[in-house]
Amino acid sequence: MSEFVDYVRSLPKAELHLHIEGTLEPAMLMNLAEQHQIDLPYSSAAEVERAYDFEDLQSFLDLYYLGASVLIDTDDFYSLMFRYLERCRDEGIVHTEMMFDPQTHTERGISFQVFMSGFSQAMDEAKRQWGQSSSLIMCFLRHLPEESAFETLKAAEPFKSQILSIGLDSAELGHPPGKFERVYAAAGEQGYRLVAHAGGEGPPAYIVDALDQLKVERVDHGVRCLEDEALVERLVREKTPLTVCPLSNVRLRVFENMVDHPIRQMLERGLNVSVNSDDPPYFGGYLLDNFDALHRELGLTREAARLLAVNSIRSSFIDEASRKDWLDQLGAPTP
Ligand code: ADE
Ligand code: ZN
Repeated sequence: MSEFVDYVRSLPKAELHLHIEGTLEPAMLMNLAEQHQIDLPYSSAAEVERAYDFEDLQSFLDLYYLGASVLIDTDDFYSLMFRYLERCRDEGIVHTEMMFDPQTHTERGISFQVFMSGFSQAMDEAKRQWGQSSSLIMCFLRHLPEESAFETLKAAEPFKSQILSIGLDSAELGHPPGKFERVYAAAGEQGYRLVAHAGGEGPPAYIVDALDQLKVERVDHGVRCLEDEALVERLVREKTPLTVCPLSNVRLRVFENMVDHPIRQMLERGLNVSVNSDDPPYFGGYLLDNFDALHRELGLTREAARLLAVNSIRSSFIDEASRKDWLDQLGAPTP
């Protein structure tokens, strides 16, 4: 890869918007389907890849949930997680906060014990082998009722020490943040950190509601804030982190082409944005691929890349001593 990519690799970075089930590579998907004798409408990994041509968020989600159906036992969850953490090591992602979707698995009869032990073993192993820092964001599926989110919060209780944050994902349009106000309040009282997807496909009002009704500290995507000047001013003033996912935005047609992506304007406006990969194999690349595309198609400079890395560390929920160390390495003051 290019010198620019090598430079970005050398910057300590945090990835804050990554769905672990969305790291399932087509080859692994096909292998697991064969191993568990699960019928899929594909006969090869190449055919799976050809299906990754999305019209919108929902058309992606249909494939994503189908893909997740091959994850059955603890080993599957372990391998999925360990492979992504190896990728972090190789891309200079020194800290990652990964989303997972319990309801996708519990609805299929797979218990918390199964996936949590796979995730935790992989995270512990990566920590032991190369000091990888990571934590988990448990997401509620917003197309499901509030009651199901409450049941999920309850089922997570025995695993609470392994989960740092709560998130909200799946189909955004028609499922405004307010639907989850009560379950977020309960999660906040239990001590979870709070984030939510908003303003990716949904309107700017969803960002306002995520902040005011769900009390989130960080907004996932948030790119549509640019349609509301007062909201932009508020986000700048409050330094609200926005976890932006450029390749995802283009593949899900939030913006037609990468040249239309507003990340540079967002930085220029003083918004606290970071770059993230969302569901990398589905959207055409991991974190460095996102930076590479921004450099090639939008002329992202080294200095802007360094600022994005600084923002990622500042916006993370890492411990304060590590935050200071990474910011020192990036030549940035701890706020
Ligand atoms: N679940 C997994 N990936 C997602 C995305 N990009 N947006 C919303 N929900 C998701
Ligand atoms: Zn996402």
